[in-house]
Amino acid sequence: MNILHISDLHFGPRHWEGNDKVLLKKINSFDTDIVINTGDNTTDGLEDEYAKAGRFLKGIKCKNVISIIGNHDKRNMRSHELFRKYIYNPEIIYIPEMEKTNKQHLFLNRDITRVKDNFTDINFTKSIIVNNKQVLIISIDSNELYRDEGYVEKKVLNAVSKRINHIEHDLPLLLIHHSLLGTDECPLKNSSSIIDFVHEHKIENVFCGHTHELELMRTTDLYNGNSFTQFMCGSLSSINHANDDNMFLYYKNLCSNDMHLYVIRIFLEEGKVHFKEEMVF
Ligand SMILES: [Fe+2]
Repeated sequence: MNILHISDLHFGPRHWEGNDKVLLKKINSFDTDIVINTGDNTTDGLEDEYAKAGRFLKGIKCKNVISIIGNHDKRNMRSHELFRKYIYNPEIIYIPEMEKTNKQHLFLNRDITRVKDNFTDINFTKSIIVNNKQVLIISIDSNELYRDEGYVEKKVLNAVSKRINHIEHDLPLLLIHHSLLGTDECPLKNSSSIIDFVHEHKIENVFCGHTHELELMRTTDLYNGNSFTQFMCGSLSSINHANDDNMFLYYKNLCSNDMHLYVIRIFLEEGKVHFKEEMVF
């Protein structure tokens, strides 16, 4: 099974000045079963940014393109509806409104907004069969409305756990915008709850974005013996800090003995796009 991983497209003011069509052509030149996109499709969560990101993603030829929402996408009360309209429209895992939650603005007050869906999180699972294997993509929304730090509501995790326990699968893969292991300026505040969730469901592969940096980490709980690998992809197409390259990742034969990971770095020189491919292992 081959997976191509993109992240942090940042349509809007932070979008790069390179040619998106060249980028699409390169992405489409890879043999991929699933394309995963780990959030920050927009810069400010505005409708025109969502529409542009949606048009770009529709240009990807792979039949399974799975996108999640990022903190930049969640900057207004309609973010979750715009995400579903333009980017990806999964079957959302809801929790009852009457439950007390700790996540800020998880529900919007319908008395003062006319937002149709007042539950602002996009949590979902998606089953895809690849080479006779049941792959279960699990997406946890780590973003809080209006904020850059992440927070995951435990009641949501319980609801997602229930769903997972009812779906037969061979290979669970977790997509989440924030790192579970990161210590960046805007981290996931309660990462330990989601690390427990990862161990509970024997998830061995976690995919994230957010920091615009490449980070590939394998972690082991020496007491319980659980391990997982976290693949953090840098930004595909944002204007970056001087030391961060634009990139995407390609996982060839994921979870087999013959697995290879490639980083495809993207450079803009005098308006022209160049790619540099590196095999990590
Ligand atoms: Fe982000």
